[in-house]
Amino acid sequence: MDMEACIHTAAEVIRSRSSLQPQVGLILGSGLGDFCDGLQNAGKIPFSELPAFPQATVEGHCGEFWIGTHQEVPVLALRGRLHYYEGYPQNVLTIPVRVMALLGIKTLILTNAAGGIHPRLSPGSLMLLQDHINQSGSNPLIGSNLGEFGPRFPDMSEVYDAGLRNDVLLAARKEGMDLACGTYLMYSGPSYETPAEIRFFGKIGADAVGMSTVPEAIVARHCGMRILGISCITNMAAGILQKKLSHEEVLETANCIKPKFLRLLDLAVHASVQA
Ligand code: HPA
Repeated sequence: MDMEACIHTAAEVIRSRSSLQPQVGLILGSGLGDFCDGLQNAGKIPFSELPAFPQATVEGHCGEFWIGTHQEVPVLALRGRLHYYEGYPQNVLTIPVRVMALLGIKTLILTNAAGGIHPRLSPGSLMLLQDHINQSGSNPLIGSNLGEFGPRFPDMSEVYDAGLRNDVLLAARKEGMDLACGTYLMYSGPSYETPAEIRFFGKIGADAVGMSTVPEAIVARHCGMRILGISCITNMAAGILQKKLSHEEVLETANCIKPKFLRLLDLAVHASVQA
């Protein structure tokens, strides 16, 4: 099955499983999938039930679409995402974004766990993405352009929607929730960065670093979606503290931030349908 057929078939299967018309899409990062447990009228579709669909392989990422309502808003959430470091080309790992576009989703909330580079960040901080730097070494739009989704050379001057970000910042401020804003840099992984790489990334303008999000954001902009990006800072990046990095620490901190992160998603979903 070619890629376009795989995307269309997945959209048809999801459509056939629920009468909801999802308005907001979410991609949930490492250890951040619990949002799905709070959905009403929820149904889940594991990637394994979608013909020719790529499969998720990482601990803490199960690979399922969840459809349901969140505070009355119909949403489609990806619990567990596909990563470049798993060996998937970026046009493959972003298939779920295009499935969401075919299902009529206009706003996408992208979340991730990230290492903090900027000194104002600390483990437990939440950062809204203002922009990104693609240091992954690839681009999901390489190859023939899928013209039904968007143009050959899409503009990337405002990947993360400023209006939506401001609405979320205002709503968070009203409840006394402290949010940072900054630039996210994608590194391929799966090894963490070296201290020298982190010094370099800080110098070129990165506030946080992670191994995801950028391919999905590029594809979502190609499809004309509005994007809100959220990083959960689970650790300080390599060399900033005298401490080694581990996936266990990332999952542990993600777990501690969970209540604040879930509250932020409430505000973000609400803001997505107000604007
Ligand atoms: N680097 C890359 N990816 C990450 C990190 C990090 O420090 N923390 C969580 N994901």
